[in-house]
Amino acid sequence: MHVLDISWFTDSMGAGRPVAVETRHLIQDTLSTLPEGSTPTPVAAVSQYACQRRTTIENNNKIFTDAFEVLAESSEFNENEGSCLAFRRAASVLKSLSWEVRCMGAIQDLPCLGERTKAVMEEFLQYGRSLEVEKVLSNERYQTLKLFTSVFGVGPKTAEKWYHRGLRSFNDILADPSIQLNRMQHYGFLHYGDISRAVSKAEARALGNIIDEAVHAITPDAILALTGGFRRGKEFGHDVDFIVTALETGTEESLLLNVIDRLKDQGILLYCDYQASTFDMSKLPNHKFEAMDQFAKGFLILRLEGSQVDGGLNCAEGDSRGWRAVRVDLVSPPMDRYAFALLGWTGSRQFERDLRRYARFERRMLLDNHALFDKTKKEFLAATTEKDIFAHLGLEYIEPWQRNA
Ligand code: UTP
Ligand code: MN
Repeated sequence: MHVLDISWFTDSMGAGRPVAVETRHLIQDTLSTLPEGSTPTPVAAVSQYACQRRTTIENNNKIFTDAFEVLAESSEFNENEGSCLAFRRAASVLKSLSWEVRCMGAIQDLPCLGERTKAVMEEFLQYGRSLEVEKVLSNERYQTLKLFTSVFGVGPKTAEKWYHRGLRSFNDILADPSIQLNRMQHYGFLHYGDISRAVSKAEARALGNIIDEAVHAITPDAILALTGGFRRGKEFGHDVDFIVTALETGTEESLLLNVIDRLKDQGILLYCDYQASTFDMSKLPNHKFEAMDQFAKGFLILRLEGSQVDGGLNCAEGDSRGWRAVRVDLVSPPMDRYAFALLGWTGSRQFERDLRRYARFERRMLLDNHALFDKTKKEFLAATTEKDIFAHLGLEYIEPWQRNA
């Protein structure tokens, strides 16, 4: 239960309906009227949904969240989806806190922290380390699968297959004549040093300029938007994600193809996996949770010149090539799907998961990268901006830089 300020009532009268409760509607001074010595209970409890929390890139609980990430990954390798999700949810809650957890008492009211996650946190608080995490980190299978999945195009299944065959290093894989790498994996190994190294904000900006030039040379009034981690304000990323679309619905796919061609002509397209659109509004809503989206896409590797980057490249020591390879994703939704695609591609993955979970379980709505469907009214809800989508869901708007769940 919330104690609300009259501003909630006046806002609701203004809107003609009860509006979603925002932090500014909560009575704050209940804190100052508490008897001396008692611990104030936070006015707004932390929500179990990441889409109701504001999570910046500042993480005050990195010791714990790094540990949970290791345990989540290890669970993923063991195909234990439940425990993987539990660790990711726990990490996400801790990332949203504006304070550092210093004792177990501080976390008793937080959602998504189960017995196992609490046991790990207790180990850290008591001894500064966790035996469970150390056991995983020194495990040969974990180390090998982690190494193999760090290659572009290698997922947990392929990594497991190679591990099972007794392969333990990149040399083992490349020297094994019975292994047929697919095209993606071939390029993954070829550019491994570059694409396993983080992309900096300055590099992302330089790529933005290159793509922007290409897009607007082809279609002057085309729309280009940066999405993914860099839109959320991250300093480094594993790739750079862009949405490219045209005002005239139906021309976006050829725009994307033309952009890719232009990059090729410029000699900077090192790799391209183009996936044509399979988008069909009449096949929506999609009931499959977390299905891939159906827009036209290009998964690229581009050559970025150091001279184009403010402050130079983020390159390995002693590297004098003057360029590096970078992973770039381009996605091309039709203009009327733009807001959904932008929301879906901005992430974080955990934020997206919880938006969908919230839509489904709290609002009886289906949300994905294409559309929002109201199961009660049996209709699609239109949106031209992300704010429209949050409003349909009855959620407070969360800025991109607050979605680092
Ligand atoms: P990324 O994997 O690029 O993650 O996907 P990120 O948040 O930018 O972080 P980096 O790159 O590791 O630094 C960005 C978002 O796009 C969505 C993902 O779910 C994520 O939320 N995405 C990605 C899709 O919706 N569809 C895809 O085919 C790929
Ligand atoms: Mn990204």
